[in-house]
Amino acid sequence: SRRQVCIIGAGPSGLLLGQLLARANVDALIIEAKRADYVLSRIRAGVLESGLTELLREAGCGERLDREGLVHHGFSLAFDDRTHRIDLSKLTGGKAVTVYGQTEVTRDLMEARAALGAPTVYEAEDVALHDFDTDRPRVTYRKDGVTHEIACDFIAGCDGFHGVSRRSVPERAITSFERVYAFGWLGLLADVPPASEELVYARHARGFALVSMRSRTRSRSYIQVPLADRVEDWPDDRFYDELRLRLPQDVAARVTPGPSIEKSIAPLRSFVAEPMRFGSLFLAGDAAHIVPPTGAKGLNLAASDVHYLSSGLIEYFAGGSRAGIDAYSQRALARIWKAERFSWWMTSMLHAFPDAGDFGARMQLAELDYIASSPAAATVVAENYVGLPF
Ligand code: FAD
Ligand code: DHB
Repeated sequence: SRRQVCIIGAGPSGLLLGQLLARANVDALIIEAKRADYVLSRIRAGVLESGLTELLREAGCGERLDREGLVHHGFSLAFDDRTHRIDLSKLTGGKAVTVYGQTEVTRDLMEARAALGAPTVYEAEDVALHDFDTDRPRVTYRKDGVTHEIACDFIAGCDGFHGVSRRSVPERAITSFERVYAFGWLGLLADVPPASEELVYARHARGFALVSMRSRTRSRSYIQVPLADRVEDWPDDRFYDELRLRLPQDVAARVTPGPSIEKSIAPLRSFVAEPMRFGSLFLAGDAAHIVPPTGAKGLNLAASDVHYLSSGLIEYFAGGSRAGIDAYSQRALARIWKAERFSWWMTSMLHAFPDAGDFGARMQLAELDYIASSPAAATVVAENYVGLPF
């Protein structure tokens, strides 16, 4: 069969792109390797920039977000036995972020897609991209033992870091930039009230810690752990003991140690692939770039990619202008590199790096003290945290 666009992957990037295209009457098929309930079971991001929330409203998916999302006007940096609040709204002329889980974003997008009757193939095996160096690309996949072929005008590779789209591009056509870190984040989700009304990012000699939330009754906390650690090494009690050691005393005292409903370790990585367009194939979201989670930029970057890509594709199908799709890679990458910088910087400032020695530790404290004492420095943190403009 034939479609205007084939979207590979039904994560937030693919679903949001699909929704914006469907509402503009662009005919797109989403092809996803996993089952829908598996996609929904992955616990990931939780902090949404206003660029993403506005895009969700534009996509007709803002109702539950506006009802249940928690608007946060600030967060705190904790270090050296003190806590400094970053007043996001005061420092950015009224901007804020919204706490609403990626799982919920994905669920709302899936439901909206179903309501429009737009097609998604789940559990597609052996997804393969063909002929995207021509203007007649094809996607093949197997489902229930039957091989299907979809001809299309464009392919959108929204299949995450480990997906097939980026890997389909010949090596000589792509340049990758990467930094891996020697530690990961162990995250724990529990149905207990969060220890703090706002997020607290803590730098501690034992390692980074973060208290976050999904709602007023569901907390999400993270601690830096060595890459070699396994989830089994961290029974809930040990996690909470370590978390409390790394948090400021007043926050630690308010930690309610509820049983974990999810617990997992995510490695930290910075990665960018350039360019993001290869003929009639576009990469978007984690398929093209990864940021370490410090600063909550991963999901939000996917949203800005989708904004640029959807507007380019809609413009093309409406009037035939290629300006938007031709500018896509460059526009997306300009914003991506700034988010890469912010995420790398926040990671560098807040984690324990044994190799950096005492000098490295003092540099971190000096940087944090500077942020706490200079409105100019605090503004740099705030305007990046709420999200740079699209
Ligand atoms: P994904 O969410 O990865 O979606 C890609 C989809 O493509 C998946 O559904 C996958 O099953 C599908 N797929 C893969 N291969 C194929 C194939 N061959 N064929 C068809 N479909 C395929 N960001 C934050 O801001 N804060 C966080 O705390 C945070 N935590 C994270 C924890 C983990 C473990 C990970 C992996 C990421 C985390 N992120 C976080 C990043 C954020 O979740 C991602 O940036 C976001 O999910 C990107 O969305 P995406 O749709 O581009 O990719
Ligand atoms: C969460 C994740 C982040 O990476 C972050 O910076 C803040 C919050 C979270 O999962 O809640």
